[in-house]
Amino acid sequence: MQHSGRSRRGPRAHWVRLAVLLGALAALAVVPATSVAKSQKAASPQANELSVFSWWTGGGEAHGLEALIKIWNKNHPEAPFKNETVAGGAGSNAKAVLAQRLAAHKPPDSFQGHAGAELQDYIKAGQLDNIDAIYKQYKLSKVFPAQLINQIKYKGHLYSVPVNIHRANILWYNPATLKKAGVKVPTTWGAFTAALSKCQDAGLIGLSVGEQWTQKHLLETVMISTLGPSGWAALWKKGANWNTAKVKTALQRYHDLLDYTNSDSASLTWQDASKLVADGKACFNVMGDWADGYFRIDLKKKPVSGYNWTAVPGTNGVYDWLSDSFTLPKGAPNPTAAKQWLGFLGSKQAQDTFNPLKGSIPARKDANPKLYDTYLKWALQQWKHDKLAGSLTHGVVANNAWNTAVDSAIGIFLGTKDVGKLQSALVTAAKTKAS
Ligand code: GAL
Repeated sequence: MQHSGRSRRGPRAHWVRLAVLLGALAALAVVPATSVAKSQKAASPQANELSVFSWWTGGGEAHGLEALIKIWNKNHPEAPFKNETVAGGAGSNAKAVLAQRLAAHKPPDSFQGHAGAELQDYIKAGQLDNIDAIYKQYKLSKVFPAQLINQIKYKGHLYSVPVNIHRANILWYNPATLKKAGVKVPTTWGAFTAALSKCQDAGLIGLSVGEQWTQKHLLETVMISTLGPSGWAALWKKGANWNTAKVKTALQRYHDLLDYTNSDSASLTWQDASKLVADGKACFNVMGDWADGYFRIDLKKKPVSGYNWTAVPGTNGVYDWLSDSFTLPKGAPNPTAAKQWLGFLGSKQAQDTFNPLKGSIPARKDANPKLYDTYLKWALQQWKHDKLAGSLTHGVVANNAWNTAVDSAIGIFLGTKDVGKLQSALVTAAKTKAS
């Protein structure tokens, strides 16, 4: 049985995002590369602004950025903040718009890029300046964990300032709903599908999902659960074998999970899907911990009693991590302000302002845990000893071309539900896109 659980915000948000994307693309389409220099001249009265590009607009996303903007504007009246956001979770719209801007040589002063393979793509394409001098000036070299620094380095140079660490493999639930359905929090795969089935029998959505990237996000957690962190890491090396029984088991598990999801997923944002849990309409939702900010701040739910969490079954002790980091694009219109912005982002003040609101832990090692709410206190502890698995959906393990090939494979699979074909498409993606 499938439930529709449609949220009122879903379709509207979808159309708004589409309109924003089309508007942005149309604007770019009428600006041929040759006229860029002219249009930059025309924009010169605002040349003192600091333009920052991200996709943090929606619930759970914007509060952290807004708090940073307030501090920035107070300290830098000479370079007012220009918030260039493009709505759409996981950068599903923003990344395409950014690619167009970079190709047209119209970069912002700084943009959001995930640490790891995604960032390396921008570096290798020659779109970023190295920021070694900023690390030196603001004494940032030792404040971030070494394994994170590795993900933002290329040929010995540094290319971004990480603001946070997010965790992707979280199973969110509403304790009152589980109680009503007579379901216990599952820790094994078998217990999970049994719980989902029970939820459906109680007339609830078992597992709420949203637009396609949220289902890719779900797949990544199922694969990490099935292969373990080292099996997962091995898949992203050049020449890796995707044609294994373990990968097949993971894909079959993913296939089976989708039987317990809502049928209107395509029109729902990640917030819509998480809200189904908060509203008591769905038992579970797998989402990154930006959902903590959304539940706590936007929906005003109390941690533990109003919403609760555990690792996705089979991934306890594994931190499926990602990091939002900010860059200095080549040709940034206001490099002086951009460099000050990056220095500020690396500061304790910025990280301890942004992260308690965003639902992430700071990238810096010296955060003040007292400033963090219940979920984040837990995450700070887990981060200390968990094994690491890099996120696929959020840019750590695969370059953009590989990620796009995985997206296409999932898009087809969501229509056909053919596990064999999904595995062959993933085998081909690994063979042709690994770098
Ligand atoms: C991720 C990003 C997070 C959060 C999420 C949902 O890719 O790293 O900060 O914004 O998307 O949009």
